[in-house]
Amino acid sequence: MNPALAVDRVQRLERLLEISRVLATTRDLPPLLKAVVDAATVLTDSEVSCIFLYDPEAQQLRLEFAPWLTPEATQAISVPLDHSIAGQVFRRKRPAVLQVRGQDSRPLQALGQQLGLPTRSVLAVPLIFRDKAIGVLKAMNKGGGSDYTGDDGSILETLSVLAATAIGNVRLVEDVQAAYHQLSSLDQAKSDFIAIASHEFRTPLGLILGHATFLREGAKPEVLEQLDVIIRNAERLKKIVEDLSRLNQLDQGTTELRLEVFSVQEFLDELVHGYESTATERYISLNDEVTPVGMLVEADREKIQIALSNLLDNALSFTGPGGHVLVGARQVPAATGERIGWVEFEVVDDGIGIAADKLQRIFDRFYQVGSHLRRRRGGLGLGLSVAKSMVERHKGRIWAESLVGKGSRFAFRVPERQRPSRGEGGAGAS
Ligand SMILES: Nc1ncnc2c1ncn2[C@@H]1O[C@H](COP(=O)(O)OP(=O)(O)O)[C@@H](O)[C@H]1O
Ligand SMILES: [Mg+2]
Repeated sequence: MNPALAVDRVQRLERLLEISRVLATTRDLPPLLKAVVDAATVLTDSEVSCIFLYDPEAQQLRLEFAPWLTPEATQAISVPLDHSIAGQVFRRKRPAVLQVRGQDSRPLQALGQQLGLPTRSVLAVPLIFRDKAIGVLKAMNKGGGSDYTGDDGSILETLSVLAATAIGNVRLVEDVQAAYHQLSSLDQAKSDFIAIASHEFRTPLGLILGHATFLREGAKPEVLEQLDVIIRNAERLKKIVEDLSRLNQLDQGTTELRLEVFSVQEFLDELVHGYESTATERYISLNDEVTPVGMLVEADREKIQIALSNLLDNALSFTGPGGHVLVGARQVPAATGERIGWVEFEVVDDGIGIAADKLQRIFDRFYQVGSHLRRRRGGLGLGLSVAKSMVERHKGRIWAESLVGKGSRFAFRVPERQRPSRGEGGAGAS
């Protein structure tokens, strides 16, 4: 080989290598297209180059970057797949060369007119990503009025492989980002909806409950039953609305722990007292048990109460007449490596139980063990996920054990205090 030619080839290859680095690290489409076009011009010793990308909606090739045109003029140009040089290259997925000399120059004239640039010669290669043509790269007007050579063809093809990969990857990333943005705005819409709905439901529900309770005081026996149905159902709705708004607050991170030290025994007595009439109506025996009796805990009393009430609601809903429900609390000493001990709460029932394969999902939001029979008991599948969040806010954990037909045990542990006492460093329970 002619030594000058060899040097020229090595130089071109070095350039190509340099460009491949630039292409691999460029993340935005416009600078990427510019880099490709500049490289094509230099590597083929052309006057200019330009790039077309396929627009699947219009089924045309759109001019994406042409350095001699303004962005507006560039955008205005697209070529059909039929009867155009670019379209032919795109369809056949094969390069094409057109030179004025010795050929019909009409296509070149047409091209020159369309692109606003007198065209003597053109070398066009397809851009192929994952076996699909995505566009066309064109180098135009070989320097010194000479013709494009085989070398020009192969170097432009090599560049087109690099360019197509880079463009394809940038587009994939753009698609993923777009999908992500869409999901985040959907998520925001969902949160807004929950916030507004729970807020708007609260007032009318409060009114219904207030009036119905008032009417019940002096009501005649024949309407008592109907009033009770209204009150019971309004209360059920109120619970759902409360769970929804709590989850929303937890999501927004606006839930703070309001710590206080309180007696576990007194707390359980009060809670169980509130459920006695429901248990009696359903012929379920309800008991509580605390060991040791005088035990204290430092926690957010309201949140622990919400967690435990949600467990208790379920136990009473999923246990039939004649069943038993026990609410218990016990002290669990710190294990080795832990600085603070735990208080473990539990709700045990001998109701219908939960199948092992469902057990891991019941703490998921909106999850319900899905038979229609159970669904008739109402609820949205939020109670356990609220309980879980409340417990986890205390750096505690919650779990369930169950046997179908035998019953369930739901338990959670929270550290017996949240703040380290004097002499202790950092948070204790881990
Ligand atoms: N004690 C229990 N016994 C049997 N199944 C239960 C019990 N607690 C919860 N489950 C099952 O877990 C599901 C989720 O409970 P939860 O999150 O409180 O939602 P909801 O009460 O709104 O259905 C319930 O629908 C029920 O199928
Ligand atoms: Mg529930």
